[in-house]
Amino acid sequence: MHTEVLPAPDIDSGTSAITRAAAIIRTGGLVAIPTETVYGLAANALDPAAVDRIYSAKGRPADNPLIVHISDIKDLDNLCTSVPPAARELAKRFWPGPLTMVLPRRPGILDGVTRGLDTVAIRVPDHPVALAIIKAAGVPVAAPSANISGSPSPTKAEHVVADLDGRIDAIVDSGPCRVGLESTVLDLSVSPPCLLRPGGVSRREIETAIGEKITVSNGEADIPRSPGVKYRHYSPKARVVTVLGRSEFAVSRVNSESGEFDGRCAALCFDGETGYDPNIFLRAIGSEDDPESIARRLFSELRELDAQGYDLIFVRSPRGEGIVAALQDRLRRASEKFIEE
Ligand code: TXA
Ligand code: MG
Repeated sequence: MHTEVLPAPDIDSGTSAITRAAAIIRTGGLVAIPTETVYGLAANALDPAAVDRIYSAKGRPADNPLIVHISDIKDLDNLCTSVPPAARELAKRFWPGPLTMVLPRRPGILDGVTRGLDTVAIRVPDHPVALAIIKAAGVPVAAPSANISGSPSPTKAEHVVADLDGRIDAIVDSGPCRVGLESTVLDLSVSPPCLLRPGGVSRREIETAIGEKITVSNGEADIPRSPGVKYRHYSPKARVVTVLGRSEFAVSRVNSESGEFDGRCAALCFDGETGYDPNIFLRAIGSEDDPESIARRLFSELRELDAQGYDLIFVRSPRGEGIVAALQDRLRRASEKFIEE
């Protein structure tokens, strides 16, 4: 299959890309589309054959359900049996945006995307091109991250090309994604709501908006609730070791770990850090005080170092809350070792 790349720097100069992408979705094809978090692999959520093609293109485990993307809050009621007041409040406050809500689904429709669950995950993405495509398609759009299952999520169109060229109909290229990590997934079918995946909207922002404490999924134990968490994720081919702590601590641990390792090592360090072993290829990933910028670049840098053939990648993790919780979650899943001072 030939994969078309359709440039859409913005909605005005992207009109033909948007029209073409919508037509492909309507006729059962697969298109990678930009969102503010990561690129998504979009298909008509109401077309089970199209949805199945997502699973084969990505090599995605069959029991891992998909997020349905809509362009308007009003469409929520077509997909769900009940929308609790907390969900309405969160939708008003954070949509369009990097928050996915899991809600009781209507029976019958969406069987392809929910994979046997009685809930459906829904999000309104905050990207003008994505919204225009969904609106023009006129159907709810199923979209997982547009990568081969298990590899880091794509934050640029070229990452989608690297993983899925020849396996999907088209890629809409709108440049790099603004957030760089996947959306927060919040289960509102239970009370109190439960955070299944940290992301661009923080736990504290959610609790403030709904005036209630939420619970946090404890990973493995919650497998039936969020099938995605049990799979190895976000991993480049290289081995990854994450180090959290003061600079002197991190540098000495990285140097000793790399000294014992027989292969090519690289480190994604903070701006201005020194003292690393000269045999380690150093790449500054941003200031420790600017975790948003680190989040935006993480997946891209991991892919880049992979392409350059490094065998072991050290990553410095910042401390903090909000986007840092999401960053640490992804690093824990990608890493064989997470060293904390
Ligand atoms: O930012 C994002 O969320 C991106 C963009 C494209 O929107 N999408 C994304 O999709 O990250 P994906 O498929 O890579 O991750 C979706 C996560 C998985 O962990 C999946 O198990 C979970 O959402 N999920 C989907 N439906 C669910 C449901 N009904 N109940 C619980 N978890 C669900
Ligand atoms: Mg994914």
